Amino acid sequence: MEKYPTKNQKVIDWVNSIAAITQPDSIYWCDGTEKENKNICATLVKNKTFIPLNPKKRPNSFLARSNPKDVARVEKRTFICSEKEIDAGPTNNWASPKKMKKKLGKLMKGCMRGRTMYVIPFSMGPLGSDIAKIGVEITDSPYVVANMRIMTRMGKKVWTVLKDGDFVKCFHSVGSPLKEDEQDVAWPCNPEETYITHFPETNEIISYGSGYGGNALLGKKCLALRIASSMAKRDGWLAEHMLIVGLKNKKLGLSSYVAAAFPSACGKTNMAMLIPPKSMSDWTVSTVGDDIAWIKPDKNGILRAINPEAGFFGVAPGTSAKTNKNAIESCRANTIFTNVALTDDGDVWWEGLTDKAPAHLIDWQGNDWTPDCGRPAAHPNSRFTAPASQCPSIDEAWEDPKGVAIDAFIFGGRLATNTPLVYQSYNWQHGVYLASTMGSEKTAASEGKTGEIRRDPMAMLPFCGYNMGDYWAHWLSMGQKVSKKPLIFRVNWFRKDAQGKFIWPGFGENMRVLEWILKRVNGSASATETVLGYSPTYNDLNWKGLSMTEERFEELMSVDKKMALSDVQAQQDYFKIFKKQKRLPQEFEAELILLEGRLK
Ligand code: OXD
Ligand code: MN
Repeated sequence: MEKYPTKNQKVIDWVNSIAAITQPDSIYWCDGTEKENKNICATLVKNKTFIPLNPKKRPNSFLARSNPKDVARVEKRTFICSEKEIDAGPTNNWASPKKMKKKLGKLMKGCMRGRTMYVIPFSMGPLGSDIAKIGVEITDSPYVVANMRIMTRMGKKVWTVLKDGDFVKCFHSVGSPLKEDEQDVAWPCNPEETYITHFPETNEIISYGSGYGGNALLGKKCLALRIASSMAKRDGWLAEHMLIVGLKNKKLGLSSYVAAAFPSACGKTNMAMLIPPKSMSDWTVSTVGDDIAWIKPDKNGILRAINPEAGFFGVAPGTSAKTNKNAIESCRANTIFTNVALTDDGDVWWEGLTDKAPAHLIDWQGNDWTPDCGRPAAHPNSRFTAPASQCPSIDEAWEDPKGVAIDAFIFGGRLATNTPLVYQSYNWQHGVYLASTMGSEKTAASEGKTGEIRRDPMAMLPFCGYNMGDYWAHWLSMGQKVSKKPLIFRVNWFRKDAQGKFIWPGFGENMRVLEWILKRVNGSASATETVLGYSPTYNDLNWKGLSMTEERFEELMSVDKKMALSDVQAQQDYFKIFKKQKRLPQEFEAELILLEGRLK
């Protein structure tokens, strides 16, 4: 057998140079086969990282429990290492590439001792699609290998497509070398020395110290968003934190794909797999992707999108047969669960899965749990890693290398007050401005306090690999590059009344809003010009099968002008730093003046 499965000398040299620094016990080149996966899972079971679930209940599925200090993305320890600080921008942590590499170089010395180094070739996007990109992840975590196999197109076929081409270098280590005869722990990591670093100018990622999904499965946030967003800026496309969903209604003659951006843990997976209410059963909803969209103008100037991922890394709590039946079906088998609870019969459970909790569980930290114990059984950011192909609503074109044509962009945050259910931007420029000022309450998907409101432009705050001001300018310029601009909408499913109760039922009922959006796309729905944009009035939405009084709808759509004016002030403050750095698009200043005028 040949020594290497690829003839790509750049890959071989890189792998050898990393091995010389990190000194693993052995090197294993992943081929992506079924047999290999069985072996990896068996290793994980032997290491106690994986608990096999009851095969009658969850065939070929496993539960992993992380170190309690390694449960979410770590934004404070995530760095964009561009040559110039200004190119990382004020919303990213910056470090000089030279200094960061020096620091990491020290940590990497011998960091894989006692471990196997795995080499994972993977494609983000259908193999061979001209929108797809190839990465190679080196990792000392078999948990990462098992997850990457679900989340990406991984294996030896990638070498055939890569040939001697360029790839994104993705280095990952749990940062926990083993001494001779030292017994490994179930979840090795190094929370005190965690660094998630990106080098956008050289297409490199170095992730050290964490085994958690968003920090360690480098195809996802690190490559498909942070590195890809800077590639997209350079090459004239978009890499976005967006779901892609197909919406069809034969009776109404409507059929479109839309892409929607929501911050982490704000219901992207639910919207991607939405099941319309019974009264709207003439609609078919199909899933292309639930988290990331790569969007490129085709030769006719139409924006076409692919989902670069092959699986779902979904938030478990709150997911149930009632809220997202398709997600529940997607993780019936061949799934890795992380930090959920274990039932006495070897299945999984999390808050919200059933109305009533089981009488006894083992919680996400391995302790006995009963409903009265006062602790959640599953971590709020616990996850399932499931193959997208298992999703009953998967779209027939989800692997089409050409992607699907996008007719509308939807941007939504989680906001209890003063942001209406839905409105349409006046035009592209106004839409980009609306998306850039989006706010949202912080969720458990990232470390830190939940509930605080923060600006999360295009839901890309933690994921934009370069200066956010330049990113906005790039979005504005994309409007000039396309022959047909998708319409842009803002939505908010999370508005609460004075009693703190959600006004909008959300989930499948969001179909009512989507119907209006598709009718706006084909020009058959009316709207009223308001201070914020084009808004539906009560009679513009389909209320068949849902009791919603006109009064309650008005409450959902209302805008307190005083509050909106103080938000204009807050937006001006937010933009100040970009302005100072000369990175604020002038178009946004114009939009602010116009908005202020309308409100006054
Ligand atoms: C995710 C996230 O895991 O956005 O998708 O944090
Ligand atoms: Mn996400």
